[in-house]
Amino acid sequence: MTRLAYYPLTQSHPPGAQLAGQLTALLPTELGRVFFVNSGSEAVETALKMARQYARRAHPGQNRYKIIARHRAYHGFTMGALSATGQVARKREFEPLVPGFLHVVPPDHYRCAFCAQTLGCTLACADEFDRAISMEGPETVAAVIIEPTIGGGGVFHAPEGYLERVRQICNHHGVLLIFDEVITGFGRTGRMFGFEHAGVRPDILTLAKGITSAYLPLAATVATNEIFDAFSHDVDDSAKFAQVSTFGGHPCSCAAGIANLEILVRERLWENAACVGAYLANRLCALHSPSIGEVRGRGLLIGLEMVADANRTPMPEAEVIRLQRKIREAGVLVGRNNDTVPGLGNVLTIAPPLTLHQEEADAIVAAIKKSLPS
Ligand SMILES: Cc1ncc(COP(=O)(O)O)c(C=O)c1O
Repeated sequence: MTRLAYYPLTQSHPPGAQLAGQLTALLPTELGRVFFVNSGSEAVETALKMARQYARRAHPGQNRYKIIARHRAYHGFTMGALSATGQVARKREFEPLVPGFLHVVPPDHYRCAFCAQTLGCTLACADEFDRAISMEGPETVAAVIIEPTIGGGGVFHAPEGYLERVRQICNHHGVLLIFDEVITGFGRTGRMFGFEHAGVRPDILTLAKGITSAYLPLAATVATNEIFDAFSHDVDDSAKFAQVSTFGGHPCSCAAGIANLEILVRERLWENAACVGAYLANRLCALHSPSIGEVRGRGLLIGLEMVADANRTPMPEAEVIRLQRKIREAGVLVGRNNDTVPGLGNVLTIAPPLTLHQEEADAIVAAIKKSLPS
């Protein structure tokens, strides 16, 4: 703060440049361009605007503006990000939202209309993107946006083959793929980024929370060099990406990001998340509680689908709230996918620090066990 209290990123500054370099070094080489903002919502907003403006440049004569997202997804509180969000209770007070946003079903194998009865996922839910794009007309679609793991909407990890299938569908239709890794980025799911579980990369990536481990506000939208070039090759200034942000990439936040990423990499915290997360999920499964319909774990992002009976009837919300309170009284903070989808506010979310030790995982299990209905 004493060295550089403020400088706008309409040009550049050393902490911003250094952090962008550190960040892109962790990503596939094609994801080489970073735009800093202040929050996850702004990172998503930036990604959506970038996709629309890019589509106009890459497909002249077409009208590619639609964005396809998923029910239960959360992408942020601003109007564009909220329009991409698939949670009715967060949106209804503010509608009508931005035109051109559509939603398809999420990969919820436990309650899937296509394949809940089969052992594995048939990827019919991924094919819904193909159906939606084809029915809308690919020449009207700019991008697909997905969280590799839906977090706040109930913790749904992408099934095996899902991200690859969606990537293929986007490629086939010339549609950009945005991964919203505001939650999953920086080790949360046991890999540095959620998309590494699948080995496919997005065209645009949104990052926030873990970039500074929340010590200071910062977020980023990362784009491929190919997307960047579509804007930068133009001599006409009005064709550049049309966005500025006064505080985005504040030098102090970037300095916090630099220090944070150094620690994350030095201590390989994603490996701890994978290891202790697997231990924690296994111990939660071993509770064999009739109230826990499913344990959905990947790294240190775990969802507990709470049920009322063996027919998978969701546990009533009031009961889930009581349970959450009891767990808190036992010393552990757990989240809940509160009021996201009608009738399905029944998922407890566990997302402890990436430094969690096994004994602390035991304490989480003990608090939950003690609080469950007998
Ligand atoms: C996946 C995802 N995207 C975007 C956001 C919005 O981020 P912020 O609250 O920093 O605006 C969130 C917030 O939880 C999120 O989980």
